[in-house]
Formats: sequence, C-alpha cells, structure tokens
Amino acid sequence: MNLKEMVKLADDMVFAKTGKHLNDLQEKILRGTWQHEDYNDIAKDVNLSEARVREVGMELWQSLSQELGEKVSKSNFRSAMERLEVSIYSNVAQEESVQINSVNICGEPRHTPNIPNSHPPNQETSNTKQPQTSHQDLSEMPELGDFYDRTLELQTLTTWILQQHSRLIALTGRLGIGKTTLAVQLVQQIKDEFEYVIWCSIDASHTLDEFQHKLIQFFYNSEKQDSSRTNQKRLPLIKYLQKHRCFVVLDDVHNLFSSGELAGKYKPEYEEYRSLFKQIEKLSHQSCFMLIGWEQPREVTQFKNQNTPIRTLQLKGLDIAAAREILRDCGLEESDNTEALIHRYEGNPLWLKNVANLIQELGIGVTELLLDDTILLPEDLKDVLHEQFDRTSELEKQVLSLLAGENQPVNLAKLLEKAQISSSDLLNALQSLSRRCSIEKQESLYTLPPVLRQYIKGL
Ligand SMILES: Nc1ncnc2c1ncn2[C@@H]1O[C@H](COP(=O)(O)OP(=O)(O)O)[C@@H](O)[C@H]1O
Ligand SMILES: [Mg+2]
Repeated sequence: MNLKEMVKLADDMVFAKTGKHLNDLQEKILRGTWQHEDYNDIAKDVNLSEARVREVGMELWQSLSQELGEKVSKSNFRSAMERLEVSIYSNVAQEESVQINSVNICGEPRHTPNIPNSHPPNQETSNTKQPQTSHQDLSEMPELGDFYDRTLELQTLTTWILQQHSRLIALTGRLGIGKTTLAVQLVQQIKDEFEYVIWCSIDASHTLDEFQHKLIQFFYNSEKQDSSRTNQKRLPLIKYLQKHRCFVVLDDVHNLFSSGELAGKYKPEYEEYRSLFKQIEKLSHQSCFMLIGWEQPREVTQFKNQNTPIRTLQLKGLDIAAAREILRDCGLEESDNTEALIHRYEGNPLWLKNVANLIQELGIGVTELLLDDTILLPEDLKDVLHEQFDRTSELEKQVLSLLAGENQPVNLAKLLEKAQISSSDLLNALQSLSRRCSIEKQESLYTLPPVLRQYIKGL
C-alpha cells in the first residue's frame, strides 16, 4: 500500500464512521505517522501545538479502531493498515466480500484497495457484479400493464444507478405522467443486479420508525435465511445499506409533505425523513434509494451538481408514437387530428386515457373535440388536477391565477407588476411551482400548460 492508497482507505473508513471526510490536519497526521514522524514533527509541519495535534490524533485512532474492530494507535497504525490490506487481497483471491464493521470491501483489482461506492458519484465504475443471492419484496409494487417508449429515461436511470452508483434518485413529474410505471419497468430490468430490492409506498408505511422497522425486518429476515448463525442481531438501517447492495424504491413520497405550503416542506410527523435522506446521501454505502413523487424533498431537488450522489429526473410526456398506442388501446380510432390531441394533452398518458374514455362514452370524434380552443376536462381529469392544485400555498395559487389570465408567456417584471407581492415571495412561489412541474419556463418567460390554464380559469 502506498501513501495515497493508505489515505484513501483511511478516508473511506472515517467517512463511513462519521459521515465526514478527513480534514487537512487529520490527513497530515496520517501521512506523518505513516512516515514514522512523531507528533512534534507533525505539529511543526502544520504550525500547531503538539497537544492539539495529539488530541486530533487520538480522536482519529478512535474512529479507525471502531471501523477496524481492533485497537489502533499511532504506534500500530501502519501495521493495522497493512493487515487490512492483506485481508482485502486474500479476500479478492477468494472472490468473496469481507465485512470490516460497517465498511464492506469487495473484490477489486490489485493495487487499488478500494471500497465500493467510495468513488466520486459521477465516475463510471464496472462494479456491477451479479449478487449471488437476491432478496426481493415487491409486494407493494403495482403490476405493469402495457408499456411504451421511455428508452432514454430507462437508459439514464440505469447509468445513474449501475454505473455511477448514485445513492439518491428523485423521479418527479406531474401526476399521471408515468413515474410509477417507468419505475416498475426499471425495477424489472435491473433488480437482479442487487442483493436486496424492496418497493414501499408511503401510503402504506407511515412514520419513519415504522418505515425503518419494515426495512430492517426485511433485511434481517433475508440475512437469517442466508446464514447459519442463530445469534444474528438487528442492525441500524444504514449498516444494511453499507453491507449489501440494496435498491429501495419509495413511491408517492409527495405524501411526506405539507399541504398549503411551498413544495417539499415535510409534515411535522415526517420531519425525521430529512435526516434519513441526508444519511443516504452523505454516508459511504453501496445502495440506492429512488424517491418517486410529484413533490420531492427540497434538499434533493435543489442539487443540480453532478458531483453529488443525488440525481433528479423530471419526467415529461410520452412521444407521439407511444401516445398513439395509448389512444389505440383505449379504443380510439386513428385520425388526422390524433397528433393535435396528443399535443393538447402534452403526451400525459393519464390525461390521454381520461380524454379517450370521454370521447368513447360521448361517441364523438377527435375532430369535433378539437373544433375550438376550449380544452375538454373530463371529471376524472379535473379530480387529478385538483389533487395537485389543492396542495399549493396561497402564494402559489395567486401566481397560478395570474398566469392563467395571460395568453402569452410573461416575464418576471410583468408578473411582479401584476402580482402585488414582494419580489422574494414571487420568486419563492415560482420556484415552488416549477418544482411541482406546474409551470413552464422558456428562457426568462413563464407560462402555464394549456390543460392547467383551462382548469384554473374554470375554478
Ligand atoms: N410508458 C407507458 N406506457 C403505457 N402506459 C403508461 C406509460 N406510462 C404511464 N402509463 C399509464 O398512465 C397512467 C399513469 O401512470 P403512472 O405511472 O401511474 O403515473 P404517475 O406515477 O406519474 O402518477 C397509468 O394508467 C399507466 O398505465
Ligand atoms: Mg405514481
């Protein structure tokens, strides 16, 4: 092991223990110790007192001791790391994985004693070895009906999850746009790449305690099946996520958030989910959580940086060919105006199904439906829109009605002039509405999708 490899390995262990990477002083202490310098030498090097360096050193040895499961001190640090290296390599030879407390070290090429998923999140890796056993609880996952299109989205999600090892993925988009359906197809395609796969709907599991208990019970029971050990203990959730490669899908996460507030504000009883999602993002582990919902945690949606292990995919409507299939499945005959109908309802499969049913029931043709600019809103489509609209804050409702009154896209200055609210309130409302996918922004102009405009005008 060279100096760089030692620092990397120690950093991974400290990160797994504390959720923080080594700071400069900690790294200097490790490097100095590795090169047989005493605290005094290191202190001179960093221009600090020997006592301070010793104190930071002691904390460091403590964290490493807990991760390595043996007492580590300045005097045996190098030999402890060398023993760890030997155990990694013998493990590689056996093509197995070895558990050193919470840090799971799998077979990796020699000269890179690496911890899976300690790679920067956007770095491609080839660690997609098929797990030997696979445990799945997909009892809450809906059944997949006809499935069209979404090749690109499936590719993107697969790359993020399997190659880039993203830890937290938000799949967002309007109600009915096809998030759940896409996620079901994704799970079917990649589930065998994981040791554990579980699908939970936030409707069914309530507080964080109940949700964690459910997951832990699933991991615990599955581990028990694989092990002859009888004194197996239940571990904290994060330990299972570190120990095994798990894929956890959480559907309908919008249920975690308050109605009447700007998007992504936790209901008081769900506030603790914030720290769970933070842990999943920050701690070193080899698992992936996918959150599905038309409202997402603020701390997830605000990240656009490719260097974080967080990704957000905002789902748009289906392409024309797929939308045609949906209309055909609903019994609608193809006509010259089918494409115009699809555009009007923005390729949203649920909206299209609602409209197709109405057309069928009324026995009218698509052409008649499109005669004027009025957008037909069947009752069940109104219910869908109401569910989303009802949750918006008063501030957002104000901005929505303002936008509904405009036939052309408007800029911020005009909105500000008309809205009679402070610029910061307006900006917050716009940000929240765009997180809910309720408004569209092209360059610096804001507009409402026609279906929403029609709905809001009719209120
Ligand atoms: N790619 C697709 N191909 C065929 N039907 C789809 C597709 N995506 C969604 N649907 C249909 O559209 C409806 C809404 O999809 P759903 O996944 O429940 O939306 P969301 O989870 O975004 O609210 C469902 O009836 C579903 O079967
Ligand atoms: Mg859904």
